[in-house]
Amino acid sequence: MQREKVVLITGTRKGIGRELALFYLGKGYTVVGCSRKEVDFFDDHYSHFCLDVCDEKSVISMVRQVAKKYGRIDVLINNAGMASMNHVLLTPYSTIKKIFDTNVYGTMLFTREVAKVMMKSKKGRIVNFTTVATALRLEGESVYAASKAAVLNFTEVTARELAPYGITVNAVGPTPVMTDLIKAVPKNKINDLIDRQAIKRLGVFDDIKNVVDFFVQDSSDFVTAQTIFLGGVNN
Ligand SMILES: NC(=O)c1ccc[n+]([C@@H]2O[C@H](COP(=O)([O-])OP(=O)(O)OC[C@H]3O[C@@H](n4cnc5c(N)ncnc54)[C@H](OP(=O)(O)O)[C@@H]3O)[C@@H](O)[C@H]2O)c1
Repeated sequence: MQREKVVLITGTRKGIGRELALFYLGKGYTVVGCSRKEVDFFDDHYSHFCLDVCDEKSVISMVRQVAKKYGRIDVLINNAGMASMNHVLLTPYSTIKKIFDTNVYGTMLFTREVAKVMMKSKKGRIVNFTTVATALRLEGESVYAASKAAVLNFTEVTARELAPYGITVNAVGPTPVMTDLIKAVPKNKINDLIDRQAIKRLGVFDDIKNVVDFFVQDSSDFVTAQTIFLGGVNN
């Protein structure tokens, strides 16, 4: 039986994406996820695609298969991302390229392909991931912050481009949350960052789920082009 909503989430193997997948399964939605490696959880209403979000052919193929199977995609959460906490002088081109491939081109490809499916039902919700590092112009994270600035601008422009089709596009900008993404960042750097927030604590998964789920609600159909930074950080 078709469940209430079909949600496509990128980067579901671990971290925030995994939490979001389990959250939406718990809400009774059909969840389709992807990441480069397999996931360690099983659910009758979850299906997984192993792919790299910047591989155009794989993205097109995945979205086509999902659209064929379910007839629609209600929500896209562009969560897959990577970071490299490095000073620009110490960032090799290969790292710069990987960060932009994943964070920017991955988000763009999924948005383009899923929006084509959403257009047909004249409604859809897209939620992108930026970071407080962008809002804070955080030194030591220049390439990562710039990639997420691109995501922020892409969110605002696609919100206008897709509004005529009933599709909203918004973004969440988390503070540090303890996942593998930031495990290599020295504790004093994390504390310095938290010190720049209005509310001085680490983020937790529930903080992010709350904002994402607000954007996803049917009743949020007049909310688009917005980025909500957590912890009291302003852009
Ligand atoms: N944690 C934080 O402090 C924090 C703060 C602000 C913003 N964010 C943002 O939140 C999002 C999730 O971060 P996280 O902390 O959950 O990171 P994470 O724990 O490192 O997880 C990243 C997820 O994305 C997948 N992934 C990475 N590169 C991929 C690629 N090229 N193709 C497909 N899947 C890929 C990973 O699976 P595979 O390795 O199997 O591909 C994994 O499931 C990111 O966009 C990040 O920038 C995080």
